[in-house]
Amino acid sequence: MSGSDDWWRDAVIYQVYVRSFADTDATSVGDLPGIRSRLPYLRDLGVDAVWVTPFYPSPMADGGYDVANYRDVDPLFGTLADAESLISDAHDAGLRLIVDLVPNHTSDQHAWFRAALAAGPGSPERSRYIFRAGRGPGGGDPPTDWQSAFGGSAWQRVPDGEWYLHLFAPEQPDLNWENPEVIEEFHEVLRFWLDRGVDGFRIDVANALKKDQSFPDLGHAEESLLEPVEGPHHPFWDRDEVHEIYRGWRRVIDEYGGDRIFVAEAWVHSPERLACYVRPDELHTAFNFAFLQASWAAERMRPVIDSCLATTAAVGAPTTWVLSNHDVTRHATRYARLGDTAPPGGERHVEPDVPLDLEQGLRRARAAVLLTLALPGSAYIYQGEELGLHEVLDLPDEVLQDPVWERSGHKERGRDGCRVPIPWTVDGPSLGFGDGAAWLPQPASWSGLSVQAQTGAEGSVLELYRAALRLRREQPALGSGALRWLDSPEGALLFERTDGRGAATLCAVNLSATPVSLPPGHRVFLASGPLGPAGELAPDTAAWLRPGQ
Ligand code: GLC
Repeated sequence: MSGSDDWWRDAVIYQVYVRSFADTDATSVGDLPGIRSRLPYLRDLGVDAVWVTPFYPSPMADGGYDVANYRDVDPLFGTLADAESLISDAHDAGLRLIVDLVPNHTSDQHAWFRAALAAGPGSPERSRYIFRAGRGPGGGDPPTDWQSAFGGSAWQRVPDGEWYLHLFAPEQPDLNWENPEVIEEFHEVLRFWLDRGVDGFRIDVANALKKDQSFPDLGHAEESLLEPVEGPHHPFWDRDEVHEIYRGWRRVIDEYGGDRIFVAEAWVHSPERLACYVRPDELHTAFNFAFLQASWAAERMRPVIDSCLATTAAVGAPTTWVLSNHDVTRHATRYARLGDTAPPGGERHVEPDVPLDLEQGLRRARAAVLLTLALPGSAYIYQGEELGLHEVLDLPDEVLQDPVWERSGHKERGRDGCRVPIPWTVDGPSLGFGDGAAWLPQPASWSGLSVQAQTGAEGSVLELYRAALRLRREQPALGSGALRWLDSPEGALLFERTDGRGAATLCAVNLSATPVSLPPGHRVFLASGPLGPAGELAPDTAAWLRPGQ
């Protein structure tokens, strides 16, 4: 583990979705000892840090994003001692560890919410949440027309007639961030985990904590569940007041020295709005989802890269690249859409009836990792993308667990297809995930994509990721240097990275349907696929080059 305070500016961070990583106690669900047992794999892969999704006590109404106690571990995942061992083992392996913090809402089983229900209207216990009287005869209509991101009204009525706000599932009541007690509680939760040695926090829905206190109607339905339209004047997404909260959090984390960090999950409508979260006295980093949503075309990718770099540079922060996570369709499948079926802003989800070419998607995903790891800034890898996993689009209805499936009246299948437990071995009841079945069934074809099958296999996706991560470490110009665009054939991207000492690396990506020639006087040292007979870059292929023959 490097001792640099600035490690996070160009770190590669691996996302572990704890339920689907490794199960050591035959519960069908992954656990903290499972992560500990796989730390050598993560170290050898070549990442710098690991972000672990929520492992706190939870009724699992939303896969653990409904937290009943922020200072403990759910028995399904292990114990607090397991969490402490995970942190110290990760450090011993040279890896930093980032935990997930869910401040917008608690579980309805959190002690605060139970007390709020018991205490009744007007009580201090209720003022930790957002309770309101209803409208219409007898207050039988919700206080506003706001919709939950998971479908249906964002308000739920309780037996005494009041309504409470839940921007997500009804089991996830929103906290009232106007209440100083809530602010203080989260400062203490930060300290609880910082005292245990964590290196940072990923902040869940960081853009939703502050609500317009006049509680206006939105006046229209959100266009799509899970893809809300955000804007600075929206009554709950990305309001300017949210930034006060993060200034307070920054003061807390800075008490622990300069090398602990925040990364915000904030789906906002522009890179400019995102940059507000990473101003010098706020959060260190924020996922740049504009890149994730850019479709596979040079003329779409390049302006997104430029605006993300420029907006974060203006506030002195690095850009944070990410292509997949536990909330979106895996990018190998998004890039499999045939023709230009993604709208200009891209889509996070691929519907089951969209025509797909999975080979094309995989070729593009291989090229995309070389593009991503050649860009300045930090990058995230979502578990299984290093194996080339596709979204599982044909999960049987009866296994689906994402609350979106029920809340949308079975119109949206939700996010389970990117959460299928990952394959470690070529055989075994759940391909090495655990000793029993996995909580979501794995496709039989995943045997051939397992870590065991791909390790040492020439040309495998896993070996491509390993080589790229190793070379990124060895080539200082790739992590922290500047980016300069070079002239490139239409449909391709070509840029140079320099480290300020004269060392240069070039990255070429062919996003077009025809081969393009590579710059003369350079030698390819890593490519995402075979080059053409005359050394040209095939469609959907990327290469790293350096000067020389
Ligand atoms: C974030 C999480 C997602 C969760 C939601 C509500 O978007 O990534 O998985 O459902 O917040 O907590």
